[in-house]
Amino acid sequence: MCGIVGYVGDQQALGVVVEGLRRLEYRGYDSAGVALCDAVRLHARKRSGKLANLDKVLDEQPLPGASIGIGHTRWATHGAPNDRNAHPHLDAAGRVAVVHNGIIENFAALRAELEQSGVEFASDTDTECVAHLLALELDRGLDLTAAMQSVCRRLEGAFTLVATAAADPSRVVGARRNSPLVVGLGDGENFLASDVAAFIAHTRQALELGQDQVVTITREGVRVTDFDGRPVEGTAYHVDWDLSAAEKGGYDWFMRKEIYEQPRAVADTLLGRFTREGTLQLDEMRLSDDELREVDKIIVLACGTSFYAGLVAKYAIEHWTRIPCEVELASEFRYRDPIVDHSTLVVAISQSGETMDTLQAIRHARQQRARVLSICNTNGSTMPRESDAVIYTHAGPEIGVASTKGFLTQIVACYLLALYLAQVRGTKFGDEITEIMDQIEAVPAALQKLLDGIGPVEELARELSTARSVLFLGRHAGYPVALEGALKLKELAYIHAEGFAAGELKHGPIALMEEGLPVFVVVPPQGRDQLHEKMVNNIQEIRARGARTIVLAEEGDEVVVPYADTLIRLPRVPTLLQPLVATVPLQVFACELATALGHDVDQPRNLAKSVTVE
Ligand code: M6R
Repeated sequence: MCGIVGYVGDQQALGVVVEGLRRLEYRGYDSAGVALCDAVRLHARKRSGKLANLDKVLDEQPLPGASIGIGHTRWATHGAPNDRNAHPHLDAAGRVAVVHNGIIENFAALRAELEQSGVEFASDTDTECVAHLLALELDRGLDLTAAMQSVCRRLEGAFTLVATAAADPSRVVGARRNSPLVVGLGDGENFLASDVAAFIAHTRQALELGQDQVVTITREGVRVTDFDGRPVEGTAYHVDWDLSAAEKGGYDWFMRKEIYEQPRAVADTLLGRFTREGTLQLDEMRLSDDELREVDKIIVLACGTSFYAGLVAKYAIEHWTRIPCEVELASEFRYRDPIVDHSTLVVAISQSGETMDTLQAIRHARQQRARVLSICNTNGSTMPRESDAVIYTHAGPEIGVASTKGFLTQIVACYLLALYLAQVRGTKFGDEITEIMDQIEAVPAALQKLLDGIGPVEELARELSTARSVLFLGRHAGYPVALEGALKLKELAYIHAEGFAAGELKHGPIALMEEGLPVFVVVPPQGRDQLHEKMVNNIQEIRARGARTIVLAEEGDEVVVPYADTLIRLPRVPTLLQPLVATVPLQVFACELATALGHDVDQPRNLAKSVTVE
């Protein structure tokens, strides 16, 4: 939801800021804009649509050189995605420029107050209030830092703000509440950004900011305070990936690159977790074994693809730990008076660590005294900071809006958690855990083999690119895979796609079956006799009604062959691990079909990577 960049240093700020925006464009692409501050005044350019439109404006109307700049790429909330609502927003006299991510909930009252005092608004955004309020504070003689502190005390809602002022051409000031902002620490230069990707080309040293903090960057240094101006310490950290991870590396899409990175991402997430002595170690676990023994219920909270990872995890958690496990959409959780107490373990799954629905859900859970563990891919993000424990997935930056390696590594992290609980609570013997870990550790090689032979899935996607509807069926741990396959296709190809539990077929969805309708069926491994047999029956039922069956079945499963119009072979893995391999062809199918339709796979319409508003 909106990408923000701020820069102070010796380089030309425009280049640094625009390059930063390019790396943050996955966060929103409704408009883009920059403001530069030279010794004389502010200069801004902005344009609706993707960053390429701003590039064009900058070519037509070049900006003067400057060493201070801010920039923004927008996912629209208040106000249509047009030029007038594009950020940065300036006050009437053009003395202060501000960019914003989030929603200022009391903006209507603030706007009314400002209009009464004669301020004329140039946009429909909530953000513009901040520009005018900052200008009023500067008029009172405050510097930009004090002005920001004062304005933030008046704001309600979620916001990251970054501002620059003509009167103070030595600093950029940022603030955050509930939305992400990190500081990049350079040598004679400093950066602000929604995500480290924006400045990774310049520095891998970063500073994590807490809630309700204001940060001032100058060439010489960084100063952090709370909204009342009291100094506070940020937490410095080293980013453990480099520029190459944030580039396409020869692939046409980030998504495709990220699909092919999955063997490595899964292996990295497993790295160092299982000792030679046969015990599981989760280094980021800040809950004691005694606390984990007290847990009598697990609630997994997440959104979108991460929610489906939670649905997969439930099967393993309950099977291995015998702890009841609920999986709930984070956006629903706190609105239904959930039963949560100190012996509930809430597991929040989020690739970004910033999804507002999930963040608010874990805050609610903590208010009810639940222990919260987050599974997250983003160091320095809000959720791990607000949790009692964290398991990081080591997928590396996921830039394609559609989650791929995020999903697989989340499942792996959930499985590590489940095995750890099983170990601590004694529901699995050591040798059983060793056997399961051996099976999980074999997954990266299986994924690589699958990807090496993925060509026919790409061909199938091109062949089906005119399909108007595609259905996905799964059962047991394959059911969330079906949901994920459908979500990938919806968000990338914009065609109707639905995932069903195969057992539900005759309770309604079978009415949809018609001649030629493509239906993907994720067939459980043969070892699970009843499930496999029932699924084969389902395939026959839909085939009898003319549907085109695309069957995903493990190598060696000959029973399905007569009923498969198209057969996609999966490596042989145990049932609980099958989602890790079965999802991959569905990712490739969606990516290739969207490519064939000419869509922007990395930046699907109306979406943003990180949903930092409720
Ligand atoms: O960063 P998170 O994992 O919390 O994000 C959750 C969802 O917004 C995300 O998975 C979304 O559904 C993806 N676009 C799916 O590909």
